[in-house]
Amino acid sequence: PKVTYIGYTGTEHEIELQSGLSVMQGAINNCIVGIDADCGGECACATCHVYVDPRWLEKVGPQGSQEAALLDFAALAKPNSRLSCQIKMTDELDGLVVNLPEAQH
Ligand code: FES
Repeated sequence: PKVTYIGYTGTEHEIELQSGLSVMQGAINNCIVGIDADCGGECACATCHVYVDPRWLEKVGPQGSQEAALLDFAALAKPNSRLSCQIKMTDELDGLVVNLPEAQH
């Protein structure tokens, strides 16, 4: 399945990910600027924060409770914020579009 990452400045990267990989891992593997993932995917740092394209919100599903608690503290969190380490790619999500925040801190 493919994911498109749109950077804060509008740069788009469309990347083919393996199913089961998280959106965060896909970004790290492909050196996408804007996702730091300091905790390595443990849902503990919130530096993998992304905004899910509104058309995809329903398929991606709601924030988990630990995720929601972290996002409460994330700078610039919005209703469509998710932690990208908590989004696992599946064929259902083929074509997913996520926007990266200006900064992760
Ligand atoms: Fe740390 Fe996602 S990588 S919360």
